[in-house]
Amino acid sequence: MEVFTSINDLKSFLKLQRAQNKSVGLVPTMGALHPGHMSLIKTSTTENDLTIGSVFVNPVQFNNAQDLEKYPRTLEADCIMLEEAGCSAVFAPTVEEMYAEKPLMRLDFGDLENVMEGASRPGHFNGVGIVVARFFNIVQPDKAYFGQKDLQQVAVIKRLVKDMAFPLELVVCETVREIDGLAMSSRNSRLSKMERVSAPFIYKTLAEAKNRLLAGDSIESVAADARTAFLKHQDFQLDYLEIVNNNSLQPITRLGPAGSSAICTAVYLGAVRLIDNILL
Ligand code: PAF
Repeated sequence: MEVFTSINDLKSFLKLQRAQNKSVGLVPTMGALHPGHMSLIKTSTTENDLTIGSVFVNPVQFNNAQDLEKYPRTLEADCIMLEEAGCSAVFAPTVEEMYAEKPLMRLDFGDLENVMEGASRPGHFNGVGIVVARFFNIVQPDKAYFGQKDLQQVAVIKRLVKDMAFPLELVVCETVREIDGLAMSSRNSRLSKMERVSAPFIYKTLAEAKNRLLAGDSIESVAADARTAFLKHQDFQLDYLEIVNNNSLQPITRLGPAGSSAICTAVYLGAVRLIDNILL
C-alpha cells in the first residue's frame, strides 16, 4: 500500500491506474481509525478496483481550537489497519499541502446547516464541504463512502455533490457499534473508564425512544422524555436531541416511510462531545 503526502504524486498514481480503466473508491477520514472506518474501506474494496483512504485532520472544520488540538493523530497505526483492510493507497497530506492558502470561499448550506451540528459548531460544514470538495477534485473517485453516524454530514455532502455536479456516487454505510451499543468514534478513545461505562446510555436512550415512536407515542412526548433522560443523568450534558427528516434535517411532525427520518443527538460526556442517531 502506497502512502502519499503530495497531491501531485497521488494524482500521477491515479492517472496510471485510470489508464488501466480501474474504478476508484474514496474513503475520507480524519484518522484515529476504528472498525467503523474499516467497514467503509471494506465496502469500497468490494465495489471498486482501487480504494483510496484519506487521513487528514481538517483544521477548517473545527471551530474549537482545543478540540482540534486534542483530536487523536495515529497515522502509523491507521496505515496498518488500512493495509489490512485492503486499502490500495493512503492520502495523508500536511495542512500546508492541502491549504497552501487559507480558502477565501465560503460554502453556505442554508437550512441544512442551521440545525444540530451546524448550529452548535458554526462554520463546521463550510470546512467539511471545502475539504470534501477538494478530495473529490484531487481523487476524482467513482464512489465515495461516508458513515450514517454523521447523518447531517451525509445530508450536506449529498447536497454538495448535487449542487456542484460531482460525477460520483455517494455510498452511505451503517453505523458500527460496540457490543453495548456505543457508536464507534475516534473520540471514544478520549473517554475515561467511568465515562466509557456510562456511554452506552446514549444508544439505549435512542433505542427506547424509537421503540416508543414505533408503538405510536407522539413525537413531542418522546423527544421531550429522551431530552429529560439526558438532563437527569449526572454524567451527561445535552447539546441537542431532534427527530428530523434525513434529507431536509428539519423536525418532523409525523413519521414518514421507514428510514426517512432519524432521532439525532449530541451530548457531552465529561469533556468529550459525542453524536449518535437512530433511523426510524
Ligand atoms: O467525517 C469525517 O471524518 C470528516 O468530517 C471528513 C468527512 C473526513 C472531512 O474532514
